[in-house]
Amino acid sequence: MTIKTIILAAGQGTRMRSTKHKVLHQIANKALLEHVYETGRSLDDNALFIIYGHGGETVKQTLSHLDATWIEQKQQLGTGHAVQQAIDHVEDADTVLILYGDVPLLKRETLQTLLKNVGATSLALLTVKLDDPTGYGRIVRDKEHSVIKIVEQKDANEAELLINEGNTGILACKGKQLKQWLARLGNDNAQNEYYLTDIIEMAVDDGLTIETTQATSQDEVLGVNNRSQLAHLERVYQTEQAQMLMERGVTLRDPARLDVRGTFSELGQDIDVDINVIFEGVNRIASNVKIGPNCTIKNATIAEGVEILANSVVEDATIGSGSRIGPFARLRPQSELADHVHIGNFVEIKKSTVASGSKINHLSYIGDSEIGSKVNVGAGTITCNYDGVNKFKTIIEDGAFIGSDTQLVAPVTVGKNATIGAGSTITRDAPAEQLTLSRVKQISVPGWQRPTKTEK
Ligand code: UD1
Ligand code: CA
Repeated sequence: MTIKTIILAAGQGTRMRSTKHKVLHQIANKALLEHVYETGRSLDDNALFIIYGHGGETVKQTLSHLDATWIEQKQQLGTGHAVQQAIDHVEDADTVLILYGDVPLLKRETLQTLLKNVGATSLALLTVKLDDPTGYGRIVRDKEHSVIKIVEQKDANEAELLINEGNTGILACKGKQLKQWLARLGNDNAQNEYYLTDIIEMAVDDGLTIETTQATSQDEVLGVNNRSQLAHLERVYQTEQAQMLMERGVTLRDPARLDVRGTFSELGQDIDVDINVIFEGVNRIASNVKIGPNCTIKNATIAEGVEILANSVVEDATIGSGSRIGPFARLRPQSELADHVHIGNFVEIKKSTVASGSKINHLSYIGDSEIGSKVNVGAGTITCNYDGVNKFKTIIEDGAFIGSDTQLVAPVTVGKNATIGAGSTITRDAPAEQLTLSRVKQISVPGWQRPTKTEK
């Protein structure tokens, strides 16, 4: 079955009160339209078409990476008119699926159920039972409970307004029939629009049955029209993510205080996540990893048994098994830590490798460095990797001991098992196995008087 999915995204979205187009607003760091696109993409044998409106060029540019055909609807004359813009791309034998670019939480499984109901003699319609149906098109059924038409809020009579089964706008039908129905659409209604919903009555007249599928929840088919709905759906999405993590064996100290803005390419068991943790991008986390409160973890690879303590930020970094990070540590891109490395408080690591068993426990900056195994970097040690124009490398070989408050002026190498005396400024290579220090000799001044305050 070839599917042609038409995503309607030409509406203005004025209620967002934004210079940004509505469908570019994000849930979990991903545009609303991209959520819809990805759900559509997940169906087999599916070609996607996105209907964008006047001023929608930025949408097209921002999301140009999507594998879809972009079609402009120059004037927004209604949902039926919007679908017409793509109809030349539809073959008679295709199944056409209509989605909305501002309905981000629709589930793939729901669409699969919907698509099972499409045939030469049936149109598949996604409906939803609503607590308050205001604004929605109402699903009108006859005494046998068969759908006979959809009536829009503005065209509905009093009895119809009481119907609480709403039209989600999402439907699927065969291409050949859709072409015929669209050609017959008029705009003689309260809004002078070409309503896609009018095809339901036409289908019934043509002897088709309308097969309805119920959305799993109201939120699944909720469209975003304002910032409050955007925030609401963000929470719904996050609740689903938290649920998914717990089902996969992750302990969440509080599922309501977690944000997942991305995916997990690997997720071990018995991962323990404390409150206010944010996961971004693609993370790979092995079993028995512990993440403390208020951490941001982005595009990280974290091996078995790692412990990340409170308030740490990890980005594009790899952490070897049994390592301990933080509290208050920052691992910047291209930080690669081997097993059993300790990175302590107020330590920043950038584009550096640290081999197994090494410790950088307090207040340090390590950039563009290669650190061997079992190295101890004392408190306040800084690699001076940048002269204002170029970056230089620091190499610290296995077993070296760097005294506190040392500046390593790169390019520089500290040899194997070398010791650097505290407070040194190291500008030349320090040989292996020796003590190297650069320090002004300590003096004492006998008889020196501390100034005293005189009483006035
Ligand atoms: C539509 C349905 C209504 C349904 C409701 C669900 C029609 C006539 N009505 O109403 O039955 O209950 O959605 O939210 O279909 N769009 C375009 N081009 C246009 C008009 C709309 O691309 O010319 C897009 C919008 O960007 C939006 C979607 O179509 O994504 C729905 O448009 P909207 O104006 O929100 O439709 P409603 O009047 O709310
Ligand atoms: Ca709407």
